Amino acid sequence: MYIVVGANGFLGSYVVKSLVSNTDEEIIATYHGKKESLYSPRVNWVHLDVTDNESVRRLAEFAGNIEECRIFYFSACHNLDLVKRDPNLAKGINITALESFLEFFSDADGLWFSSTDCVYGENTAEIPLFKESDPTCPVSEYGRQKLEAEKIVNTYGFNAVRLPYMIGPSLLENKKHFYDNIVEKTADGQDFTLADGLWRSALDYQSVADILVKLSMMKNTPQVLNLCGDDSLSKYDVGIMIAEKHNLPTEHIIKTPEEEIMKLFDERRTSSTAMDNSLLKSVLGTDEIKIKF
Ligand SMILES: NC(=O)c1ccc[n+]([C@@H]2O[C@H](COP(=O)([O-])OP(=O)(O)OC[C@H]3O[C@@H](n4cnc5c(N)ncnc54)[C@H](OP(=O)(O)O)[C@@H]3O)[C@@H](O)[C@H]2O)c1
Repeated sequence: MYIVVGANGFLGSYVVKSLVSNTDEEIIATYHGKKESLYSPRVNWVHLDVTDNESVRRLAEFAGNIEECRIFYFSACHNLDLVKRDPNLAKGINITALESFLEFFSDADGLWFSSTDCVYGENTAEIPLFKESDPTCPVSEYGRQKLEAEKIVNTYGFNAVRLPYMIGPSLLENKKHFYDNIVEKTADGQDFTLADGLWRSALDYQSVADILVKLSMMKNTPQVLNLCGDDSLSKYDVGIMIAEKHNLPTEHIIKTPEEEIMKLFDERRTSSTAMDNSLLKSVLGTDEIKIKF
């Protein structure tokens, strides 16, 4: 049995889709806001507010035998600017709620927590790609909260995956992704400005979901693992790839200086946070992980 916490989000919906395609297991998918998507009779949708202990208790009761549950935990307050504006509210979701959840599900067969490249900070000439063993130095409150959360998850013997910037078409009826906005606007002949920078080891949601499902079937994988693509890509690079995929004119994707884009944010962003994925590749026995749409 799988439980996907935050299944009504972008990554969660892709993981549910991947579980349906790649396993025969029963799936509990939790939603918090409006329930949007159903994929299969094997998926039981359960309402969950991770900040409400009673709601978590009901989920544990519904799941039954916790020892047979493998859990993906994606619920989070992850908008960097929102986290900066109200760190205590964010902490309630990102730390306090996670701790209570883990108390209920400490006997689970496994749990994979969605952390972030933001735990590392800025690449340097000495560290152009962050390895799991490198020092962490987050520059944002979000990165600090995710790092604290990772440590809690690891204390229970569970796994944290450090995810990059992820992108892909939304599977949700009522929630468009940035990807969809790029396609729609460009198809409509409108310009779309994207940073000539903000370098990340970006990966598409489908690839991340499929890798997570594979990891969940393996034993003794590293407790902290970078789950990212091979290439360090700017936001502009990703925009061009999306336009090309949809046969749209790339001249509507407008390269904008990184400094201009940075001015739009309240919270600090790094110019480059690229990660090394060699540990992941050795675990999966693969030699290439490329972003694909
Ligand atoms: N997006 C990225 O590029 C990126 C990069 C690195 C790491 N991550 C991490 O990956 C995870 C998933 O991200 P995503 O892109 O799929 O974002 P998302 O679509 O915003 O998903 C987050 C989910 O958290 C749920 N949630 C929020 N508050 C909750 C609460 N109190 N109780 C229960 N659920 C709650 C949301 O449910 P409702 O919408 O129903 O409120 C939503 O389904 C997050 O942990 C994020 O930190 C994302």
